[in-house]
Amino acid sequence: MAEIVIVENEDAAGAIVADAIVTLIRSKPDVVLGLATGSTPLASYRALARRIADDEIDVRGVRGFALDEYVGLPAGHPESYRAVITREVVEPLGLTPELVRVPNGDPASIEHAGGDYEAAITAAGGVDLQILGIGRTGHIGFNEPGSSLASLTRVKTLTEPTRLDNARFFDSPADVPMHCITQGIGTILRARHLVLLAFGAAKAHAVAAAVEGAVSASQPGSAIQLHPHTTVIVDEAAASELTNLDYYRHAWANKPAWQGI
Ligand code: F6R
Repeated sequence: MAEIVIVENEDAAGAIVADAIVTLIRSKPDVVLGLATGSTPLASYRALARRIADDEIDVRGVRGFALDEYVGLPAGHPESYRAVITREVVEPLGLTPELVRVPNGDPASIEHAGGDYEAAITAAGGVDLQILGIGRTGHIGFNEPGSSLASLTRVKTLTEPTRLDNARFFDSPADVPMHCITQGIGTILRARHLVLLAFGAAKAHAVAAAVEGAVSASQPGSAIQLHPHTTVIVDEAAASELTNLDYYRHAWANKPAWQGI
C-alpha cells in the first residue's frame, strides 16, 4: 500500500519533496522528473528551487516530462502548461529548457502527439519520480473517471467539474479548453516512484477513494494502489476522510530514517 504522510501544510510537504528530489539528483544528475501543474505542487517547486540554490546543486542535466497539456491553446498562451512549466519549474529551478518536455497540444499534429510523447519518455529511460496532484473528480493527470487503468498518453475530454475548477486561471469558464492531452494511467504507473500531493478539504473524498477505496477506473487515483512505491503527502484537511489514520501516523513516526520516502 502507499505510504501516507500527514503534514501540517504545503510548505512541510514541499520540504519532504525537495529532499527526495535533491537526493535523487545527487545520485543521478540526469534524473527524469514527472511534473504536475495546477496549484498543488507549487510549494514543492518553490522549496526545491530554494534547496537547489542553497546547496548549489547542478541541475543542468535534469530532465522532465509534464503530465498533460490543453489542446488548442495558441502557442505562448500564459495558461498553456508549456508556459506554466516554464514559469513555475524550468526558470525558478534553473533547468535546461530543452530537457523539459510537455505534451504537444497543437491540433495540427494531435493524432500522433500521444505516441510521440510515449516514445520520448521511453527513450529517456522512464520517469524516476512522478509528482501528482489529484482532482476533485479523482483524476490524476487529466485521466477523468472512466479512464482505462492501462491507458497511455492520448487526448481526453475534460469533465465539466474540472473545467470549472480550472476556470480560475482563465477569463471565463468557457475559455477553458474542452480537450487535453494527458499521460495515461498506464504511463503514470511506469514511473519508478509516485508522489501524490493533496491539500484542503475539497480533496478529502478523492484522497480517501484513491488510498482506501476499490481500485477502479471510476476513481483514477485508486490506480496508485497498483504501484509498488507510492508516497501520498496530505494535510489534515485532505486526510480527513481516511479511516486508517492512526496507523499511517504510527508508521511514519516509526519509519527508519535511512529509508527516505
Ligand atoms: C495537473 C494535473 C491535474 C492536477 C489536478 C489538481 O498537471 O494533471 O491532475 O494535479 O487537477 O489540480 P490543483 O493542483 O490545481 O488542485
